[in-house]
Amino acid sequence: MASGRLAHALITPAAPPRPRPALRATLAGALALAVLTGCAPSGATDEPPGLPKATGTATAPATSQATPAAGGAVGAPGIGDPDFPTDGNGGYDVRHYNLVLAYDPATKHLDGTATIQARATQELARFNLDLSGLTVQSVRVGGTPAQFSRQGTELSVSPPAALKDDQDFTVEVRYGGRPGPIRDANNLGVYGFVATPDGAFVTCEPNGAKTWFPGNDHPADKATFDFSITVPQGVTALANGEMTAQPATSGGKTTYTWRERHPMVTYLATMTLGKFQLKQGKTEDGIPNLAAVDPQYADSLQRLYTTSGEITDYWSTVFGPYPFSSTGGVVDDFNAGYALENQTKPIYGGFDPDETIIAHELAHQWFGNSVSIRRWQDLWLNEGFATYAEWLWSEHKGKGTAEAMFKTYYNSKDDPMWAYPPGKARPDDLFNNSVYTRGGLTLHALRQRIGDPAFFKLLRDWAQENKYGNATTDQFIAMAEKVSGKDLDKLFQAWLFTPERPTSW
Ligand code: ARG
Ligand code: ZN
Repeated sequence: MASGRLAHALITPAAPPRPRPALRATLAGALALAVLTGCAPSGATDEPPGLPKATGTATAPATSQATPAAGGAVGAPGIGDPDFPTDGNGGYDVRHYNLVLAYDPATKHLDGTATIQARATQELARFNLDLSGLTVQSVRVGGTPAQFSRQGTELSVSPPAALKDDQDFTVEVRYGGRPGPIRDANNLGVYGFVATPDGAFVTCEPNGAKTWFPGNDHPADKATFDFSITVPQGVTALANGEMTAQPATSGGKTTYTWRERHPMVTYLATMTLGKFQLKQGKTEDGIPNLAAVDPQYADSLQRLYTTSGEITDYWSTVFGPYPFSSTGGVVDDFNAGYALENQTKPIYGGFDPDETIIAHELAHQWFGNSVSIRRWQDLWLNEGFATYAEWLWSEHKGKGTAEAMFKTYYNSKDDPMWAYPPGKARPDDLFNNSVYTRGGLTLHALRQRIGDPAFFKLLRDWAQENKYGNATTDQFIAMAEKVSGKDLDKLFQAWLFTPERPTSW
């Protein structure tokens, strides 16, 4: 039934394996320096949250692995997501990550110092960070060496003195090693830090941030980020947000500094490294726009830049003001089989993105990135919305309407999505097509029911009222009922929570 163009955007067109041409010694490196130079922080579209003060990173003496303090108040090893019990951690709330990183593609070695500013939400004699692989050299809390130990992907830290409830504290972790991705045979594929011949491809949804920095790796804890990334001269380092200084080169190494000054979930953080060709400027509405492509995709650069700018501006008219300080896109030469909506810089893994998928990833900047989920079962709030945005884009372009899409899918009675209720994404099949397509159909059923004025007001109110925060499906249903003045229980029950094709709602 579903024609090629209806196939959901997560899956990229089956790209025939291309022989990897020898990396051309392009001007990309030099160009990178020239082009990125102008990419200074720019006016935000909205009041940005305050950036915490930078924290010193004094050299720490090696602290021996130690048994965590016995007794006392212990932060939970998970943040409380029923489907991912050890993801994230309890007992504190991260405010800011300062990541000082150095990576060499030749040795695949990463050296890092992560300085995390957080606030305790309970008394803490011990708390956990998430970190996968790598070696921890030292941990300091408030500048004083702290004991730490590791069990699986949990890094337990015992501060020299117990932290009080509500206390602000800083934890500095020095670590290093050869980072590797998470491979999930079930359905997620390869994600996290993926080394490429010229650098790295870094896409962390749902829980791969822990493959390259210690943190509270769950979307319920958002924070601002600073990145300082040192790479061999000629390699470009891209991260979220905007550059805060001109890249500085000395001794054959270049350091790039990036800042994401709006709260971000850990899975959207990236350090994409390699040879890139760049195009930088502003969208017609004045939002800084940066497109970056692996030289292999040189022909895609102009279109990626123009389309990303046009779509960012259009979504601003539909969903409300763009929530971040810059937009753009990255195409890297790693065939991930998917794209990811990395904050301010969606990444397309080894394919030339078409308008549909660019529309999808940029819609996520509102739905998923600015308004984030609190637990993974609500993932349709990201993917259903971004899929619906694909149909809105098609409608906007005078191609197929959302109504036509809805009819086509609804008439496909044997589709496996009818057996999978999208309102409760399954941990073993998080990115099921139902979460995308049936999630999108749910929004269309809602639009039919409440009419265009209420529906589009709801989308804008949802984005505005939960801007930079976290929200749940129950909150969306409550807002839909409030905005429309209708009882929508039956509709959401049928579309989101029933394992069969809805017939009345
Ligand atoms: N959120 C991404 C998108 O819809 C999909 C990420 C898939 N992640 C993965 N590990 N397979 O474009
Ligand atoms: Zn998506």
